[in-house]
Amino acid sequence: MSNEATPISGNIEPLMDGHGRPINDLRVSVTDLCNLRCQYCMPAEGVEWLSHDSILDFEEITRLIRVFISLGISTVRLTGGEPLVRRDFPTLAGMIGKLGLDDLSITTNGFYLERDADALVAAGIRRFNVSLDTLTRERYAEITRRDVFDRVIAGLGALEKFDNIGTIKTNAVAMRGFTEQDVLAFAEFARKRPYQVRFIEYMPLGGGDDWRAEEVLTGAEIRELIEQRYPLVPVIVDPHATARVWRFADGVGEVGFINPVSEPFCGSCDRIRMTADGKLRTCLFSLYETDLREPLRAGASDDELRKVIRDAVWRKELKHQIGDAGFRKPERPMSSIGG
Ligand code: 5AD
Ligand code: SF4
Repeated sequence: MSNEATPISGNIEPLMDGHGRPINDLRVSVTDLCNLRCQYCMPAEGVEWLSHDSILDFEEITRLIRVFISLGISTVRLTGGEPLVRRDFPTLAGMIGKLGLDDLSITTNGFYLERDADALVAAGIRRFNVSLDTLTRERYAEITRRDVFDRVIAGLGALEKFDNIGTIKTNAVAMRGFTEQDVLAFAEFARKRPYQVRFIEYMPLGGGDDWRAEEVLTGAEIRELIEQRYPLVPVIVDPHATARVWRFADGVGEVGFINPVSEPFCGSCDRIRMTADGKLRTCLFSLYETDLREPLRAGASDDELRKVIRDAVWRKELKHQIGDAGFRKPERPMSSIGG
């Protein structure tokens, strides 16, 4: 058995990739199912779901996260699909919340937030990102193929009463020909509501093969649209943060820009991902995955799992190839990778 990664308190060899990037952040997808059908993420019909047996149970997820923590992972974000459609999700969150992470967060579409907000905060989730691509009910129904805008806005509202969580964030995928219409309304939303409104450049991850570079509305373009009405000043953020944050010059509210296409941030990437069926993905765009479920179910020791993880992370991709001639989309749809 390998002894290279035995965690000795205060003396953990940090998880590192072969390009010298320390890895601190793990995104865990807990289900590939979703109750919405966002156009940029999934086809309307014909999605192939993971089989029940292939999905890790709560004990398995918790065990693997504990192993990741022993390797220095300090931040976990829970994603899906839609994490809140997993049965008893708050129980799982509570199990993870007890593992001693520095930071536990969730990305959700907000549909079940009114129902679950209290349980999630009690479980230890301290940061919430809620998908919100538009501010009109009709356009929300168009982009998500489900007419549930009011419910999501109510879900966001259910988070406002907590004073022990970080700034609530909304995420809009920025698509040319769609998002322009909402930019000023989003700016005003960010000024009126206690949310940081973020725009994420549209990436080629959806169900279809229809992504074209021209369809990305870049962060710079959106910022220009906002600044025609409301001047912005930059906010200094953590160098590993994916978002560039700007504050309105009069001090009221913030917007954020995640620009993976126009300004890739792969050089400072500290993230890896685990899918609901227990595959380790070292990049959102990985073409290869490392199976953790099989060794886990075959009775691997923590040391053995650490070795599998270390070896996979060492081979983490240098960068994504979006826009390059040789770009290939991952086979797994975004809905089963997690945002
Ligand atoms: N491009 C950019 N972001 C995406 N997301 C999903 N699909 C895409 C895509 N094709 C992000 C959205 C969503 C989160 C779950 O993942 O921000 O809110
Ligand atoms: Fe569901 Fe999120 Fe994909 Fe929309 S983006 S279909 S909410 S997983």
